[in-house]
Amino acid sequence: MNQKVLFDLSYGLYIVTSKEKEKFSGCVVNTVCQATAEEKPKLTVIINKENYTNQIAKKSKKLNISVLSKEADMLLIGKFGFRSGKDFNKLEGTEYIEGKNGVPVITQAVCSYLECDVIDVIDCGSHSIFVLEMQDAEILSEKEPMTYQYYHNVIKGKTPPKASSYMGK
Ligand SMILES: Cc1cc2nc3c(=O)[nH]c(=O)nc-3n(C[C@H](O)[C@H](O)[C@H](O)COP(=O)(O)O)c2cc1C
Repeated sequence: MNQKVLFDLSYGLYIVTSKEKEKFSGCVVNTVCQATAEEKPKLTVIINKENYTNQIAKKSKKLNISVLSKEADMLLIGKFGFRSGKDFNKLEGTEYIEGKNGVPVITQAVCSYLECDVIDVIDCGSHSIFVLEMQDAEILSEKEPMTYQYYHNVIKGKTPPKASSYMGK
């Protein structure tokens, strides 16, 4: 079985955020997918069980998604993609607004955002698949969305162990 086939799959890059009482976190993901085009579209996102964002979203049942633009730099991606919100406040020094659902939405280097309810959580081994229902969405700029390919080929970014697509060194 040639596992390198998995590198041919295409993705975008996002920051998902969640908040429960005073607990907040957000993390970079490449695993957002539109599942349906109903009046309130359904989406899925896959988050590692050890990520603080996973634990908070399971309790709050709310997850907001910011679509990163090609302007996102390694400072922003490093903060949300390589460090845990268990250790520090990721909102400090980051541009954000409060969503209608009360969950902060990252607006720095972002094209658009979605506010979602978590309507189901499916166990997927190391990761959970969150099934989301979109409740609100806004376009913030006409900037081009970041793709996973652009992140690897142009920004020369790495994939950390908790990402779904991590393949070891
Ligand atoms: C390019 C990139 C893609 C990532 N994709 C995912 C993903 O799809 N799912 C996931 O759980 N973690 C993914 N991660 C890893 C999380 O962003 C990382 O573990 C983060 O530090 C978790 O933060 P938290 O503990 O505050 O939730 C990705 C990271 C990067 C840099």
